[in-house]
Amino acid sequence: MTEHILIERQGAVQIIRMNRPDKKNALTRAMYAAMTAALAEGDADPSVRVHVFLGVPGAFSSGNDLADFLAFATSGKFGSEGWDFLFALARAEKPMVSGVDGIAVGIGTTLNLHCDLTFATPRTVFRTPFVDLGLVPEAGSSLLAPRVLGRQNAFALLALGEGFSAERAKAAGLIHEVVAEEALESTVLNAANAIAARPPQALKIARDLLHEPREELVARIELEKEHFKERLRSEEALAVLTAFMNRKKA
Ligand code: COA
Repeated sequence: MTEHILIERQGAVQIIRMNRPDKKNALTRAMYAAMTAALAEGDADPSVRVHVFLGVPGAFSSGNDLADFLAFATSGKFGSEGWDFLFALARAEKPMVSGVDGIAVGIGTTLNLHCDLTFATPRTVFRTPFVDLGLVPEAGSSLLAPRVLGRQNAFALLALGEGFSAERAKAAGLIHEVVAEEALESTVLNAANAIAARPPQALKIARDLLHEPREELVARIELEKEHFKERLRSEEALAVLTAFMNRKKA
């Protein structure tokens, strides 16, 4: 286990909190593993009806830990924890709600495409600099984003790495509501409790009907994974990752 993921239960709501503030919630392999386990345990527990994802003030997540990416790029050995988490998101059986404040980079953005409701504060910026890192979109975002946002917004977000403010994200359909910082967590929990109060069987069928076909989503994540692994070993990625890790020494 890791102290960087905190799991809490409030009634029927399971809260999964990313808690590594000194690194702006960059996600390590241990953090992915803890979140994957929490989703599985919550899905298997009948007393849990909703999963909630939260971060810390000012940082939902700065994305995958770039030191881990660099280690993968240089060693050629890939941990499976990140991918396991992406597949777990795609296969999660219970509704997921997220509350985003501040930094939301990479998986900090694409995670929300799997959530049924996302709330974000006005200072939030969603950004996926995959291509700038020499990488490609992940988490099924190449399938989900064009459907959710339209192709041009998806291209701007996923290929150009444009930042989407909370307002722009709301207008584009990426999030449900913009909420003041001080009201974010209570709003998220109210929404989660409102979901938990619905008849669970009918809600599950409704959610499954609204959901992308799981097999299609899983197949897309597999395809993205193959490209991603190839890209991580590319000169383009290695140069950018090395520059980020060395930037303070320069
Ligand atoms: N992986 C590893 N470390 C990260 C990180 C990441 N994804 N994001 C931030 N950090 C670390 C920084 O290296 C820094 O560590 P240090 O204090 O030991 O030097 C610390 O977190 C704080 O980050 P800092 O850059 O000083 O904060 P900021 O508010 O100025 O900028 C970001 C925040 C997120 C905009 C910037 O850190 C960034 O661009 N990070 C990389 C994001 C990224 O490319 N993620 C992968 C997407 S696929």
